[in-house]
Amino acid sequence: MPSPLILGIETSCDETSVALLERDGTVRVNHIASQIERHQPFGGVVPEIASREHLQHLFPLVTRSLADAGAAWSDIDSIAVTSGPGLIGALLVGVAGAQGLAYGLGIPIVAVNHLEGHIFSPYLQTDGASIPLPKRVLSLVISGGHSSIYDVRPGDGRAQVRMINRTRDDAIGETFDKVAKFIGLPYPGGPQIEKFARQGQADVRRFPFPIAQFKDESADFSYSGIKAGAIRLAREHRIHSGGDEKAMADFCATFQDALFAQLFDRLGTVWSRMQSEREAMPTEIAIAGGVAANGVLRDRILEWGRHRGVIVRLPEKRYCTDNAAMIAFAGLQMGIPADPRRVVARSRIR
Ligand code: KG4
Ligand code: ZN
Repeated sequence: MPSPLILGIETSCDETSVALLERDGTVRVNHIASQIERHQPFGGVVPEIASREHLQHLFPLVTRSLADAGAAWSDIDSIAVTSGPGLIGALLVGVAGAQGLAYGLGIPIVAVNHLEGHIFSPYLQTDGASIPLPKRVLSLVISGGHSSIYDVRPGDGRAQVRMINRTRDDAIGETFDKVAKFIGLPYPGGPQIEKFARQGQADVRRFPFPIAQFKDESADFSYSGIKAGAIRLAREHRIHSGGDEKAMADFCATFQDALFAQLFDRLGTVWSRMQSEREAMPTEIAIAGGVAANGVLRDRILEWGRHRGVIVRLPEKRYCTDNAAMIAFAGLQMGIPADPRRVVARSRIR
């Protein structure tokens, strides 16, 4: 008997993605149709175009996925679909598509929160079953739209996920992108800034960035101050692509350091608050989302974990950005299969 498969569908933003996973987390296929070129002329994602593109690509991707996995419709026993947060028109294409398929096949749907998809993505592997989940993991989701730390307790398909903090304004990836745009670098800005930063040296005297703190001692993130400061400093020092390369590299190195300094500041606060509680500490820390592809951050978080005796899980780069494999995998972890007619799409979840 072949293992039953879970079909994953992701259409929350500008990537249509379909995946087929076995119950042990083995990824049989994970196809992604990126729309980035369709949106590029407009300098950002156009929701109407995104929805139409999803509509065009979703079903061909499903049939191609089945063919590539050598699987039949009858091998699928459930469907995991992103129900939010995201662009409502885009989400509706995935949800309605999943509903039609599930209803027709007589199987349940698991509605997956996109953030929960990212949270479990570091446990997926290209080859073979997923990495076994610990009892408790501290998870950082850092992307273009989100910056949050979660307290996650997996447990036999009934994972509990508690959000500890979030950003009060810009997300970390968004800050990379906006400052990159200001200094004349193309979208997405994160990898561009990283590239320049590697050739430079942080210079906090020329480019000072204080770490934002809240009066109420909240561990929330706030990146709008760093963004405004970076734009002011870039203007003052005439930092621009095509200008003085050394100044550009040093600026990028200092700016990137400031973003990560705040990340580690909050992580330290959250960790020491957990230590003062009388519960078993997380044994692992995981990072996820587009910014988790940053090599400097990956090295620093490994170092952070080594110091504290905590295992660090880094997602493979293919699972950092949006994909349906992580949605199907989160479906297996969160597991509340529902009647397909009861699933609703929500643009904002929390
Ligand atoms: O998770 P993702 O693909 O999409 C969202 O859900 O937002 O994340 C995209 C974000 C962009 O802001 C991009 O600049 C950032 O991830 N990013 C990086 C790197 N690669 C992608 N940021 C810093 N360093 C990178 N190497
Ligand atoms: Zn995402």
